[in-house]
Amino acid sequence: MENQNRRVATLTLDDGRSIELPIMSGTLGADVIDIRELGKLGMFTYDPGFLSTASCSSEITFIDGDAGLLYYRGYPIEQLAEHSSFLEVCYLMLNGELPDAQQHEAFGNKVTRHTMVHDQLVRFYNGFRRDAHPMAVMVGVVGALSAFYHDSIDISNPAHREISAMRMIAKVPTIAAMAYKYNTGEPFMYPKNSFGYVENFMYMMFGTPCEDYVPNPVLVRALERIFILHADHEQNASTSTVRLAGSSGANPYACVSSGIAALWGPAHGGANEAVLKMLEEIGDISRAAEFMAGVKDKKYRLMGFGHRVYKSMDPRASVMRRTCYEVLRELKLEDDRMFQMALELEQIALKDDYFIERRLYPNVDFYSGIVLRALGVPTNMFTVFFALARTIGWVSQWSEMIADNERKIGRPRQLYQGAVRRDYVPIDRR
Ligand code: CMC
Repeated sequence: MENQNRRVATLTLDDGRSIELPIMSGTLGADVIDIRELGKLGMFTYDPGFLSTASCSSEITFIDGDAGLLYYRGYPIEQLAEHSSFLEVCYLMLNGELPDAQQHEAFGNKVTRHTMVHDQLVRFYNGFRRDAHPMAVMVGVVGALSAFYHDSIDISNPAHREISAMRMIAKVPTIAAMAYKYNTGEPFMYPKNSFGYVENFMYMMFGTPCEDYVPNPVLVRALERIFILHADHEQNASTSTVRLAGSSGANPYACVSSGIAALWGPAHGGANEAVLKMLEEIGDISRAAEFMAGVKDKKYRLMGFGHRVYKSMDPRASVMRRTCYEVLRELKLEDDRMFQMALELEQIALKDDYFIERRLYPNVDFYSGIVLRALGVPTNMFTVFFALARTIGWVSQWSEMIADNERKIGRPRQLYQGAVRRDYVPIDRR
């Protein structure tokens, strides 16, 4: 309904009462109905999983799931993956604009100089079993950062938010690499400032004190691309978790730790690990068709396929597939069994009515696991890599939320379906 410039939707209840709800438009994407006044009618909306709910307004990331578009601050993901560096993307996310050369250098220097962790933090690792899942270690150790930086906990102070952001971008790779080294029993590798951000992470992961580490530029670039592709993704489960935790004014490191916990689930960040497990279970390309029959019988899901938002090809999956070819070529693994199986599954799915009707296409995780495996990353570290990359998204979204004048503590309502009022019965009379 149009009312001069003000657009409204009118909601009429079955008892005749009605309310006009403003329609809001963003710069891109679907309009939203502002239902904040609905409570006046003594009613709420019901939307499990937030399928139809915009929980905030944001200027950071835009996804058009039907068209398969993903923009960071307006820049298409394909362009950033092709031309940008991860640190440049971090700057863009946090500040809204790409840096000029001077800003880029200053930002890089700042991040580099925050990569070490407090020596006391290192002791936390010893509290974990050696075979602990590295995501469990990440939840614990990143959360523990909240106990270290008492100099900058005034979240209403932009300078404090900035230093917290910087510390997280810089230290999460160090913490992640240490989680891996702790698993393997190799000594921790401290950051090396002469390396770039991604090289340094690879050095801390794969280097040892016994020999010089020489990064392979093709593999560095592939990992950089993985980081860029995973940097942010709108209000997904982990980002919404970070925002919800942060809405109470909680410590930013604790908020990011809650995001890591949410990311761990197989329906979210755990999917690339699940893809690899699935491929291992299938075992041989000759069993692909039989496996797909089981998917269609709903015995299990085809991991790495489908997305809540993308109802066409995930643009990150196309970049990832190309990266997969580059890495396998560089490592002379073109005939990689897992890769061939993945291609076969994709081909079957893209032609099959089950997937076409439900608009299920490969998502980024379908190929990222194969690339990570080729890089020598163990399966249980896949989600850790995702968490490392997503840290910038979480921090940017957290920072945006704190600065938002409309911020309120996140507090969804519910449709109560439990017992109505009843009186307590003493135990001997039950
Ligand atoms: N394999 C087989 N069937 C599927 C799949 C799949 N991967 N995904 C969805 N379906 C079917 C589902 O059974 C349902 O069928 P029906 O209508 O007959 O009941 C229909 O498609 C809709 O599924 P849904 O679960 O209602 O869809 P959703 O939007 O809630 O779920 C999803 C999205 C990502 C959780 C889901 O597609 C899935 O479980 N995929 C596999 C896990 C995966 O790859 N996750 C990574 C997501 S991308 C990484 C990220 O951004 O975090």
